[in-house]
Amino acid sequence: MKLIIINGPNLNLLGKREPEVYGNKTFEDYFADLQFRFKDVQLEYFQSNIEGELIGKIQEVGFSYEGIILNAAAYTHTSVGIGDAIKAVSTPVVEVHISNTHKREEFRHVSYISPVAKGVILGFGLQSYDLAIQSFLP
Ligand code: DQA
Repeated sequence: MKLIIINGPNLNLLGKREPEVYGNKTFEDYFADLQFRFKDVQLEYFQSNIEGELIGKIQEVGFSYEGIILNAAAYTHTSVGIGDAIKAVSTPVVEVHISNTHKREEFRHVSYISPVAKGVILGFGLQSYDLAIQSFLP
């Protein structure tokens, strides 16, 4: 089973960025942990702060991988282009957020990803990614 985690803007700063919202762990440390715990899954990780690069990665993997776990971060709330890319590919996408975006500012209540995602997992901290991986397992 080939899965990829795609993280959007500012998620490269996890561990340093607003730790009260996003926690103290870097994504690299957490990803190493995930690879250890999900040994049967071929797990990849891609992060970009650039919308077009996120779209490019979705197109690149979106006809061959079994699943995409996408935290589009701020682009969740703005990007028609990422929503269209998800619609264009055949690989199912699970939308993930670390925080419960519905408890936060109103602009975070809108998602261009949710209507085209297989499912949405949010508000469980980094554990949201664990749950997303599990959702693809038999
Ligand atoms: C986020 C929530 C978004 O609103 C925010 O812009 C992020 C992170 C989350 O994982 O909680 O960058 O996607």
